[in-house]
Amino acid sequence: MIPTRRDLKFHLPLEAASHWHHEGAVLTHFINAMSLTFPEGERFFIHTLRHYRDRIEDPLLQEAVTAFIGQEAMHGREHAEYNALLSQVGLPAEEIEAEVTSFFKALKAWLPPAAQLSITIAQEHFTAIVAEALLRDPALIAGADPRLAALWRWHALEEIEHKAVAFDVYETSVGRSLPAYALRTTSMLTTTAGFLLMVLWCQGRMMIADQRAGARKGVRSFLKVMLSPRSGLVRRLAGPWLEYFKPEFHPWDHDNGELLEEMERLVERLNGSPDNASAAAAEPLRAVA
Ligand SMILES: [Fe+2]
Ligand SMILES: [Fe+2]
Repeated sequence: MIPTRRDLKFHLPLEAASHWHHEGAVLTHFINAMSLTFPEGERFFIHTLRHYRDRIEDPLLQEAVTAFIGQEAMHGREHAEYNALLSQVGLPAEEIEAEVTSFFKALKAWLPPAAQLSITIAQEHFTAIVAEALLRDPALIAGADPRLAALWRWHALEEIEHKAVAFDVYETSVGRSLPAYALRTTSMLTTTAGFLLMVLWCQGRMMIADQRAGARKGVRSFLKVMLSPRSGLVRRLAGPWLEYFKPEFHPWDHDNGELLEEMERLVERLNGSPDNASAAAAEPLRAVA
């Protein structure tokens, strides 16, 4: 699948950023914390793929890499705008983003290119399985302003669309040998732990800055959404996460391309008006179940 770069604008209103989740402030800050890691994280993914792009011989994969870079650049731009709103409502988003930037700068300076790429493919798998969970269960972004919901759904759809690009670059460039398998699986363990710690750190910083986030209802709801034994996010992600450790794993072994049927409708709505914002806000997005 060749992804498509889509230059969409969401024009989020200021009120979209704070306390939007119906399950409370703790979950709001968790999801906002993920957004804080995205612009720099996505620049890191672009950096790792650029390193290999010119050595790729398959023209289709080259094309897919260019589209991947275009998509991640657009995600970064829109999440940077989202994050700027968090600063505007008085949250320490700028400081947190600066810390995230230092972290990725260190990874670029210290790790060899293959290890950097292994982090990218691990994070891409993690992002793709979270994206599917979000698209199949709209309750995860319930209460969001329709423009904010549209931003998350667009990002989730494109993450699914390009989920195999970095992986294919890894297999082409680093290989499918035992050491290549060991590197990608070790990176999945460290990247998952590192990403969760980073998001929880960002969330904690936001909650400390925002006293209302300590409400007990918010904490309980957050733990339920994450850890409920029947429908919690951790339980839903565990199976797809483990798939990555199969030696023959490929991201499209799990074909969820049908989710992308929503894309055309979303883009039409966003492009259908000179003011994308009002177009997106006009109708809440259809849930894909
Ligand atoms: Fe992205
Ligand atoms: Fe991605």
